[in-house]
Amino acid sequence: MTTNTIDGHDMARAISFGDQHSAEIQPYGQVVPLPIGLSEAVCREGVEQLNQLLADTVTLRDLYKKHHWQVLGPTFYQLHLLFDKHSGEQSGLVDAIAERIQALGGVSLAMGGDIAETTLIPRPPRGREAVAAQIGRLLHAHEIVLKEARTMARLAAERGDDGTNDMIVSDIIRANETQVWFLAEHVAEAPSTRADQ
Ligand SMILES: [Fe+2]
Repeated sequence: MTTNTIDGHDMARAISFGDQHSAEIQPYGQVVPLPIGLSEAVCREGVEQLNQLLADTVTLRDLYKKHHWQVLGPTFYQLHLLFDKHSGEQSGLVDAIAERIQALGGVSLAMGGDIAETTLIPRPPRGREAVAAQIGRLLHAHEIVLKEARTMARLAAERGDDGTNDMIVSDIIRANETQVWFLAEHVAEAPSTRADQ
């Protein structure tokens, strides 16, 4: 029998490795109790809310990347850089939320299809939009995240889940508010740069 090899590796074996499937060891929605001093019910509620926040934060991050690539016009360079900076910061938040979900014993959403099914942020068109529309879309997305984040932080505090409350307040809310400021100033009515006008 002949064996196909690439660099000495048996391809039949290599293919069988990629074909391995097994039952899930922890289904989505199930919470595994960890010794963190919080009840399973508290952790389950936190995980559920954080997965919503995760889906919206991933979408906001991707919206920034889309606009980073597609922006055009006289402010191209500054917005190209700003959108990328915000996208990077949102990426850090995505990781913090996902890892908080895992730390509570849950399973975090991860893949694009699942994110798309879950997010509350309206889906943008594939094509390019003008700068004002890009910024308006981002501001709307930030507002969705901020509103849900404040509610979730309050609920986490009421449940006694201080770690989740702290992450949402210190990381998510503060970062999103700052990004809104940087964005909103681009579309604010500004007086003339000349004092006599
Ligand atoms: Fe880039």
